[in-house]
Amino acid sequence: MSQPFSFFLVTDIHYFEPALGAEGPAYERRSRVDQKCIAETGAIIDAEFARIAADTETNTVIIPGDLVFDGEKASHLGVLKRLQYLKDHGKRVLLITARHDYNDYSRGFVGEEQVEVEHTNREELPGLYHAYGWDDAINVYRDGFSYVSQLTDKIRMLALNCDGDTKDFKGLYPEQLAWAKEQIKKAHDDGCYIFAITHYPLLPGSNIMKLIGDAKLTDWEQTADFLADAGLDLIFTGHMHMQSLTEHVSPGGNKITDICTGSLVGCPAYYRRVTFMEDGRIDIQSIPTGEFAWKDKGDRTAAEYFQWRFDRMITDLVDAMADDFEFFANKFGGVEKMKKFKAPITFVGKGLKKWNIGTLGRLLCFKVDPSVKDRLLKDVGVEFVRNIFIGDEPYVKGTPIYDVMDKLLNRLKPVLAIAGKKIKGGVSADYLKDFVLSLIGDENRRDHTAVLETSAMQYLTK
Ligand SMILES: [Fe+2]
Ligand SMILES: [Fe+2]
Repeated sequence: MSQPFSFFLVTDIHYFEPALGAEGPAYERRSRVDQKCIAETGAIIDAEFARIAADTETNTVIIPGDLVFDGEKASHLGVLKRLQYLKDHGKRVLLITARHDYNDYSRGFVGEEQVEVEHTNREELPGLYHAYGWDDAINVYRDGFSYVSQLTDKIRMLALNCDGDTKDFKGLYPEQLAWAKEQIKKAHDDGCYIFAITHYPLLPGSNIMKLIGDAKLTDWEQTADFLADAGLDLIFTGHMHMQSLTEHVSPGGNKITDICTGSLVGCPAYYRRVTFMEDGRIDIQSIPTGEFAWKDKGDRTAAEYFQWRFDRMITDLVDAMADDFEFFANKFGGVEKMKKFKAPITFVGKGLKKWNIGTLGRLLCFKVDPSVKDRLLKDVGVEFVRNIFIGDEPYVKGTPIYDVMDKLLNRLKPVLAIAGKKIKGGVSADYLKDFVLSLIGDENRRDHTAVLETSAMQYLTK
């Protein structure tokens, strides 16, 4: 029987030093297409770190990367000051760095312009953050970026940097994986449970993320099989700014679970408390980023503010489809390339803004539950996208929205059949229908809270 042990998992804090310039037209232009609240990061982190500091039960904080906006040296100094604050309050902070933590070119925003500011080279990072993982590591990988920490006498953490080649390959090289396997075996030989962290998700957090290159490690399937077969069964990740719990079973029959956590500073703004209970089961809780002081939040709560910022990114696009084709086309390869689609894009954009679910039912001759008939298609579309990031997607079988989508997709089957033939390898209309339905409803609902039964039960109860 072991004592309960818990840690906070906070990720993608993306701190930006306001002295570098975080207001004015140039800032606003980029801010509108970002789910993160960058100018606000200082206020958000300070408020949340104060709450973490005041918590006397959980004294370990783990951060799997993206500490700053885009490699600014001044932002790193601001992060170090805030980590020192946690340390002064008795917290042990362990972190890895990721791709937003270094850059050849870093910028601030002044008036109409982006201005160059001092950047950070990747090699500097383990030195800057040596007090947060490296100094008391029990093993450091030879490139200096990955390490192993002893968290309790029975629990270790394998901190895996996944910068890869710092370009197209985001992942773990064979030698790094061989080192990881050795460390997993060593932990088990020493009677310890070991879990891992890495920045990029090991597993795609939604079916749609399987199609997006940047949504998980390159070679994720091989890497997941390798780590699962090496005896690793739990990994915490970030980067996607989404809440998800995903499982994968290797051909060898070994299961690994990836828990991806939202960014502290953008919708869905959450962090986690992870508790190893006395019986070795692992309790996963999610905590929404709380209130913070900011000059122009309007009357919004923190949660409303984060959601407003997220939704604006998408509604801007829908509005542009309808009313500002140039803006829209420039997001997708330029006016020249997109101009042949102008008429259908404008038509769909205007429809999304004007039509509700009832209109859709009438156009395609299916019955719609009265409780949802007045919902604007635009709002439903935005909600679908937002829900993929928030996780625990609510529209499962039996809900009126599921029913609408089911009927709509049945009507669209001839179109889906044609689309399916165009996809590499060819897929059926039913496959595409199931795929879309899987995006709106998650039967498992474990993205926010879960109790895991892992091999920790074996190691912690010995
Ligand atoms: Fe990030
Ligand atoms: Fe990232």
